[in-house]
Amino acid sequence: GQEPLTPTPPMGWMTWNFFADNIHEKDIREMADAMVASGMVEAGYNYIIIDDGWQGGRDNRNNITADPKKFPSGIKALADYVHKKGIKLGIYSDAAQLTCAGYTASLGFEEQDAKTFASWDIDYLKYDYCHAPKDSATAVERYTKMSQALRKSGREIVFGVCEWGQLKPWHWAAEAGGQLWRTTYDVRDKWKNLSSDENAEGIIDILDINAELHAYAGPGRWNDADMLVVGLYGKPGPSGDMGGVGMNDTEYESQMSLWSIMASPLIATNDVRNMNEATKRILLNKEVIAINQDPLGKQAERKVHGGAWDVFVKPLQNGEVAVAILNRGDQAKNYRIGWAELGLNGKYEVRDLWEHKSVGKGKSWKGRLQSHETKLFRLKRI
Ligand code: DGJ
Repeated sequence: GQEPLTPTPPMGWMTWNFFADNIHEKDIREMADAMVASGMVEAGYNYIIIDDGWQGGRDNRNNITADPKKFPSGIKALADYVHKKGIKLGIYSDAAQLTCAGYTASLGFEEQDAKTFASWDIDYLKYDYCHAPKDSATAVERYTKMSQALRKSGREIVFGVCEWGQLKPWHWAAEAGGQLWRTTYDVRDKWKNLSSDENAEGIIDILDINAELHAYAGPGRWNDADMLVVGLYGKPGPSGDMGGVGMNDTEYESQMSLWSIMASPLIATNDVRNMNEATKRILLNKEVIAINQDPLGKQAERKVHGGAWDVFVKPLQNGEVAVAILNRGDQAKNYRIGWAELGLNGKYEVRDLWEHKSVGKGKSWKGRLQSHETKLFRLKRI
């Protein structure tokens, strides 16, 4: 077959959970500079995605325009700037007349907008579903319309479906032309929701939805568990309060491990210009990223789920296996697991991908996990 547009999960940085719609080309250029300087681009984070709020309405020929106050040089100039640094540029629209934040969207202008995006050298479109009818027939029709318009635009543009999971996009989004689809409401910088009726989710809430969808993922078709909130520490930038109380580094490390083993896109949203050592260590862990980017493209299966413990297993291209063990509980606890319980027979050498060393050999592992800690291992048959 043909090489898919996203053979491994997309990686990058997105404006939303830090800036919301308070975006400016200067900040985005600075993020691009910082992504190169910090090693993020080298580690694989090679998309910058401009989320909602860039739009300035339509001109007298109905061409969608960028807000000239936020993007005085225009989007094409920004694309040129990031392309020179080895970064691709993404943009955002919505399958209705208005976006979630009330800006001009693409319904009825799909072909014209796709051509405009292509003329700006855009590489990725995140396509939201606010203000659109909540039935799957309409969603399929509207997403298909935009994906076909992108295909006709003459440029290869990744298509990210952003419907938040209520219409079960894992059943239809690939056929509608998407390479990835959000499976949940928006991520917030918090471990868990306290009430279940919020339209925003903590890490554990997203995990419990996304983990069940492993069968739908593969090269060119990814379950998108939304952004990595690593490094926000409860203080997003000019976006003000996004409703996240913040997490600690153990919890950020867990998000990185779990999103990696679930083969979710790895899209950061922190202030890359001002990263502390912990944030860099977490986002730039190449052994962890390699689990996410493994070419076999399998999403981990959750083999243990009950009480305090979750255990995930992801087969890798070279025959090795990634295993994540999560302590969901509020206390540090000891854990012991025999690999045969996961269907892994024989003996294994166990490499800890956060400690960067071998932590044992044999048919089992035991150790202590802090509250909300995730161990991420690579198992090699011996
Ligand atoms: C809802 C999406 O889920 C968010 O990620 C973000 O794109 C906002 N809309 C923008 O309005």
